[in-house]
Amino acid sequence: MRISATLLTIIAAIATLTATAATQQPTVGVTPTPNNLTYAEETTSLDITAGLQLYISCDSSDTERLVRAVERTGIATKRVKRPARNGYLNLIIRENSTASDEAYEMTVTEQGVEIVAPTAAGLFYGVQTLEQLNNNGCIAACHISDAPRLKYRGILIDISRHFRTAEFLKRQIDIMAQLKMNRLHLHLTDAAGWRLEIESYPRLTSYAAWRTPATWKEWWYGERAHVNEGDAGAYGGYLTKAEARDLVAYAADRYITIIPEIEMPGHSDEVLAAYPELKCSHQPERQGDLCIGKEATFEMMQSILDEVMEIFPSEYIHIGGDEAGKQEWAKCEDCQRRIKEEGLNGVDELQSYMIHRIEEYLNSHNRQIIGWDEILQGGLAPNATVMSWRGEEGGITAANMGHDVIMSPHGYCYIDAPQDAPCTEPESIGGYLPLERVYSYDPAPKSLDESVRRHIIGVQANLWAEFIPTDEHYEYMLWPRAMAVAEIGWTHPEMKDYASFRERAIAIVDNMLERGYHPFDLKNEKGNRPESLQPISHLAVGKSVTYNAPSRYYAPKYAAAGDATLTDGLRGTWTYADNRWQGFLGRGGVDVTIDMGEVTEIHSVAADFMQICGPGVFMPCRVIISVSTDGVEYTTLTTIDHEVVVDELPSFKSFGWEGVAEARYIRYNAHRSKFSGFLFVDEIVVQ
Ligand code: ACM
Ligand code: ZN
Repeated sequence: MRISATLLTIIAAIATLTATAATQQPTVGVTPTPNNLTYAEETTSLDITAGLQLYISCDSSDTERLVRAVERTGIATKRVKRPARNGYLNLIIRENSTASDEAYEMTVTEQGVEIVAPTAAGLFYGVQTLEQLNNNGCIAACHISDAPRLKYRGILIDISRHFRTAEFLKRQIDIMAQLKMNRLHLHLTDAAGWRLEIESYPRLTSYAAWRTPATWKEWWYGERAHVNEGDAGAYGGYLTKAEARDLVAYAADRYITIIPEIEMPGHSDEVLAAYPELKCSHQPERQGDLCIGKEATFEMMQSILDEVMEIFPSEYIHIGGDEAGKQEWAKCEDCQRRIKEEGLNGVDELQSYMIHRIEEYLNSHNRQIIGWDEILQGGLAPNATVMSWRGEEGGITAANMGHDVIMSPHGYCYIDAPQDAPCTEPESIGGYLPLERVYSYDPAPKSLDESVRRHIIGVQANLWAEFIPTDEHYEYMLWPRAMAVAEIGWTHPEMKDYASFRERAIAIVDNMLERGYHPFDLKNEKGNRPESLQPISHLAVGKSVTYNAPSRYYAPKYAAAGDATLTDGLRGTWTYADNRWQGFLGRGGVDVTIDMGEVTEIHSVAADFMQICGPGVFMPCRVIISVSTDGVEYTTLTTIDHEVVVDELPSFKSFGWEGVAEARYIRYNAHRSKFSGFLFVDEIVVQ
C-alpha cells in the first residue's frame, strides 16, 4: 500500500510517539480484569494526546456503532480508509478459533493500537479496555488476549415496584457497557405496577401502572389499591412503546440486549386488578395468580407477548414463573377443569402446563424463555433457560437436565440487601451483602461436573426495588456491587483478586461521583459487624447447651452450628442468614441451660439479639438469667424487661447481667414479644 505525502504529513502531525512513557502500566487497571494481559518488556508506550487514525473494517451498521464507541472514550481520532502506519487505531473483524464471539485481541505498540475480534461486540469490548488503559494520554505497550468467562453478564432492574424512566436506565446502561456487561433484564410487571404500554390491553397502563400511596411499603401494607392515570395522588408510570424501542436501540448501540420480563402466572395482581374478569373467582378479593383454566388468560398473554416481541428483539423473553401462591387454582372450577382435561397432577403441574404452552408460543416465534427456578416444579418446559435465585440447587438441577442456566442466587446476587452496616444504611429488604461477598461468588465452580458447568451460561445481579423509591437510592444500591458481577462474569477465577478489584472499584466510584452518579462511596465502607471479626474467648466456650421445653429447639433453617452455636465463640455478622445467628420461632422463645461442667465463679452473662422488622425479627420483651449449682435449685440473677417497638432500621442489643455468682448451670430465657416473629441470638458470653 502506498501512503500519500499528505497523509504522511497528517500522521506526523497527529501521532507524537514516545519511547519513554511516564509510566509503564496504567495507574488503576482494567475492569473487569482481562484474562490475559502482558505489558511489553521494554518501557514503551503510545502517546495519544494528538489523536489516532481510526480504521474500521466491519459491516457498516457496526462501523457506525464502533465510531460512536470510540468517540465516547474521549480519544481524538480521525477516520481513515486504510490502516495507517503510525498513530493508528485499527479495529478489524477477523475470524479466529476462540470459543467466544465476544473475544478480542489488542496490541499496543509505540506505533498504534490494533484490536482484532471475530465480531463487532469483541471490537467494542476492546475499545472499552482501550479507554481504561488510557493514562493521561499515554497507553503502555501491551498485548491482551481476552474473552468473557460467561456469555450472559446481566443486571435485573425492577421498575415495577418503583418506576424508573428510560433516561435513568440509559445512565445505567452507560456504566454496564464500560464494564462489558451485555444483558439488562427489565422487571416490567408485578403487583405494584405494570410498566409497558400494551395497546391491546390499555388498562394495564391507564390503571395498573398507577397506585396510591407512593411508597411500596405503605401501599403493600395498606389497601394495595390501583388508581387511574391522572387521579389525585396517582403515583407510577410506564414506558411507552416509543420509549421502550428507543431504549432497546440505545442499549444495542452498546452491545447490550434488553430482556423484558412479563411475569406469569404469579406476581400478577395488577393485571387482575385491571382485568378482574380474568380472576379465578369473580370475587372482589385480590388475586395474584392468573387463572390458568380460562382460555382468555392465554389470549391475553399471547397478545401481550406479540407486542413485547415487536418491541424487544431479544432472543430471550423472561416469563417470570416465581412465587405463585396457587391457592385460588385449587378452588377454581376453570382451573380444576383444566387439570382434569389435561390429566395434570395438581397445581404444580397446572403452572407447568401454562409455562409449557407459553414456551411453545414463544418458540414458534423464534424466541426462548427464561424463567425463575420455580418453573422446575411440575416439570420443566423443554427449551427453558432457568434463572436460579433461591440458591443454586435449582440451577444445578436444570443444568443436569441439559438446560442452560443463569445463576443469580440471593445469597450473593440480591443487591437489594444493604451493602454496609445495616443500622446506618437506608431501610431495605434486610440482610447484609457487602461488595466482597458478591465478588467472592463463583457461578460455575470447578467442584461441579463439566457437563453441568457448560450449561451455566451467565450470572446476574438483581436489584428489586420495594424499598428504593428514588434514582439516587437506586444507583447507590446498584454500584459498585454490580461491578463485582461484571468481573465475576468476565474474569476467570484464577485471575480474580479482591484487593485489586476494590482499588479499581473505588476509582470507578470516584469517577462516577464526579459524573453526577450516586454510587455507594466504597472508600468509606465500615465493614462487617466488629464483634464477628474475631472469635471471642469466654468461660462457656465449648460447654454443652440444653434446649429446654417448650421452646425445644431453634428453627431448622436457622440452626447455625446446631447445639454448639451458642457457646462456639463465634459472634454473628450483620445478617441472621450467616449460620452464626440461631433463630427461634417457638412459643417459648430462647430457653437454654449451659452446663459449665463444674461450679464456677462467674461475673457476667450476656447475649446479643437483633431486630429487623421487615422479615419479622424482633427483640425479646423479657430476659431472665438464673443460675444453679446442682441443676435443681435456681437463683434468678436478673429479669430484664424491654419494650419492643417497630422501627425501620435493624438494631442490635445486648441483654445481660453483671455481678458475682457461683454456678455450674446457667439458664438463659428470652421471651418473644407481642409481635411474635423470630428471636435471633448469636452467643451466650459468660465471663
Ligand atoms: C424472586 O426473587 N422472586 C425471583
Ligand atoms: Zn382459575
